[in-house]
Amino acid sequence: MAGKILIIGACGQIGTELTLKLRENYGNEQVVASDIREGNEELMQSGPFETIDATDGRLIETVIDKYKVSEVYLMAAMLSATAEKAPMKAWNLNMDSLFHILNLAKDKKIKKVFWPSSIAVFGPTTPKEQTPQTTIMEPSTVYGISKQTGERWCKYYHDKYGVDVRSMRYPGIISYKTLPGGGTTDYAIEIFHEALKNKTYTSFLSENTSLPMMYMNDAIKATIDIMEAPTETIRVRSSYNLSALSFTPKILAEAIKKEIPDFKIDYAPDFRQEIAGTWPSSIDDSQAREDWRWEHDFDLQSVVKEMLAGVKAQFAAKI
Ligand code: SER
Repeated sequence: MAGKILIIGACGQIGTELTLKLRENYGNEQVVASDIREGNEELMQSGPFETIDATDGRLIETVIDKYKVSEVYLMAAMLSATAEKAPMKAWNLNMDSLFHILNLAKDKKIKKVFWPSSIAVFGPTTPKEQTPQTTIMEPSTVYGISKQTGERWCKYYHDKYGVDVRSMRYPGIISYKTLPGGGTTDYAIEIFHEALKNKTYTSFLSENTSLPMMYMNDAIKATIDIMEAPTETIRVRSSYNLSALSFTPKILAEAIKKEIPDFKIDYAPDFRQEIAGTWPSSIDDSQAREDWRWEHDFDLQSVVKEMLAGVKAQFAAKI
């Protein structure tokens, strides 16, 4: 690789595992982690770290110069549930950070950009089942509006300025190493912690709310695969649909019961139900599978097994 990799938002749920995987693949010194706050010990000790506020374009440019960065993964964002509580802050963070990176790429300071979009770009008028790559997109959340706008700007910068930006619409990402912050799909993580601690969980989404989901290892694989794919295979320059699993809280609870037979779930939907109700139940990601050979590895029962083992090990380590 010509230059180094910079990850902005490296201490978040996805950023942490992405940074560690990239360091494993390319070498610790090749991968610069950055975030507004420090991350876990493994991340902080395995390679370079810089404190960066993702809205500070000048500082980002200084760090890019300092390390001779050629690729940026922009993982900083305010997620759906939190963004509803702070719309302008969410808009500023999600959009300003993207423009800083797109403009640095336009000015040829960096060569390649990864920017994640989300299933939140879809809205109540989108076909819910097997949502196509190209379809009606009328998002009704602040987060969804920012991601949809971001997709259009990525496409614009690619088409007009030749910026090599690559993107995918993440579904809900399930993991145990770093907790997510403020997402509508977070119930699918909390449930494992509560199942092991208390054998009971109260879901903030109703029992039959089906949403697209994915295990972290698959999300990291997709992210690195799309960045390594030959340029000409990336035919979508807004953002790719990406899918692995779809399940409801009830189906997830049944899968957990196979491992913890006396686990119980009840339901107390809150404001996040309204957000989830506007999102697809399942996603058609055939274009990603065709263009850059995307394939997922983890099915529901293997996700449940991995999550229970991972969270259990974390609990044991804390005692
Ligand atoms: N997991 C995200 C959220 O719930 C969706 O991109 O906000």
